[in-house]
Amino acid sequence: MSDRIIFFDTTLRDGEQVPGCQLNTIEKIEVARQLEQLGVDVIEAGFPVSSPGDFNSVVEISKAVSNPIICALTRAVEADIDAAADALQYAKLKRIHTGIGTSDEHIRYKFNSTREEILERAVAAVKYAASKRCEVEFYAEDAGRTDNEYLARVAEAAIKAGATIINIPDTTGYCLPDEFGAKIKYLMEHVDGLANGKAILSTHCHNDLGMATANTMSGILNGARQVEVTINGVGERAGNTSLEEVAMILKCHHDLPLECGINTRRITAASRLVSSLMSMPVQFNKAIVGRNAFAHSSGIHQDGVLKNTSTYEIINPEDVGLEQGDIVLTARSGRAALKHRLTELGVELKGDKLDRVYEQFLKLADKKRELTNDDILMLAGADMAINKKVRLESLQVLAGKGVNPYAKIRLMVDKESFEAESAGNGPLDASIKALKKIIKRDMILKEMTIQAISKGSDDVGKVHMQVETGGHLYYGFGSDTDIVTASIEAYIDCINKFRPETDGKDAI
Ligand code: KIV
Ligand code: ZN
Repeated sequence: MSDRIIFFDTTLRDGEQVPGCQLNTIEKIEVARQLEQLGVDVIEAGFPVSSPGDFNSVVEISKAVSNPIICALTRAVEADIDAAADALQYAKLKRIHTGIGTSDEHIRYKFNSTREEILERAVAAVKYAASKRCEVEFYAEDAGRTDNEYLARVAEAAIKAGATIINIPDTTGYCLPDEFGAKIKYLMEHVDGLANGKAILSTHCHNDLGMATANTMSGILNGARQVEVTINGVGERAGNTSLEEVAMILKCHHDLPLECGINTRRITAASRLVSSLMSMPVQFNKAIVGRNAFAHSSGIHQDGVLKNTSTYEIINPEDVGLEQGDIVLTARSGRAALKHRLTELGVELKGDKLDRVYEQFLKLADKKRELTNDDILMLAGADMAINKKVRLESLQVLAGKGVNPYAKIRLMVDKESFEAESAGNGPLDASIKALKKIIKRDMILKEMTIQAISKGSDDVGKVHMQVETGGHLYYGFGSDTDIVTASIEAYIDCINKFRPETDGKDAI
């Protein structure tokens, strides 16, 4: 049996089902990119039949990331499977995740059906999904409370019908770790196609009784080779198994002959991104990513850690990408300090690129007293947009109560400088109207999100934008301590991505 554990992240599907924490397409793409950097193997991008927004997110995520498999959820219903296959059309590696409830509670009360009928529906759904030229994963919803003998029959029939991954969800978070482990062991021993590697078992545990991670580990120890997890353990009710907890257990327990592809140094960045985009704070004492997870406050512990960190620390904070806080980055910090911090954050910059980020760093440090890791990561990412055809030279805005909004903008287009001014119904509207006097192309602002990076009135605002032109959508990002400037930078980022129009005209 392989010793590699496959990480299947469902932050954007099960995780996103949390009321009030829904993400728009732009935010989902940002999370998907972060998940790709984190090294997850599979991204469950959504449930396409559920809404046009979910469908579109699966399409856009499929275009935006290329390493992970992109997975779409369906019920055991042909229309769902059709929608999933359509939404996955741009994915390099695609998976349809179809299934049905198998516990007696689900069969009786949800479907008013029988075990035999449910088994037939499961087989039909897997066969239909397999006909779509996608990898097929089958879930037996509420497997945690499903009779093992019946579950084994369903799993075996699903494998024969074409599924290569059998997901065993503890949907209600009911199982005890021993019980869940015994279920996985039973299936490993009684289902044809598991022992010979034709298919693998997956865990999908919920945390209603606080046992999601323990159950997931018990599943792994008994033969499961895929884990379904979310960043920060987000998910309906008490949430799903936390990705960071399982990844760090595998890293810390050298006694387990198991490995995975997670780059643990990206954990903190992923946790902060999901927390801020979902507006869902992480509990202070949350394992691995809580703000107290590495803070030693009692005298006895502090004394021990100062003598040797191994006395009270089983995890090196650097392994999860946590800032050490020993060097404070300000306008007086040098290039070396910036490079050091970037290396700590898992970003290696050299030469011209480092120089350019340092230049931006000094500009931002002039506006902000202290730069956080999020600021640094944002600058390193924003560097991609520096050598572009269109650049913002200056933006002057008049706005406020009792003032007619007005903007004056100067752009460099192909090293030539252009200036324009306009009134508008607000500072952003005036700025975009002025920009459109220089870039004369039909462009429609479709979606925009504004977000503060950390806190405080001197904070940097991040703007994500979606602009449509020539029937195509383009995504842009901008950041600045001035939110109107950040928005115009995001607009220009979209413009710099425009493709040439079909009549052969220049892109811009
Ligand atoms: O918890 C669950 O059973 C699920 C399935 C749809 C996989 O999320
Ligand atoms: Zn679930």
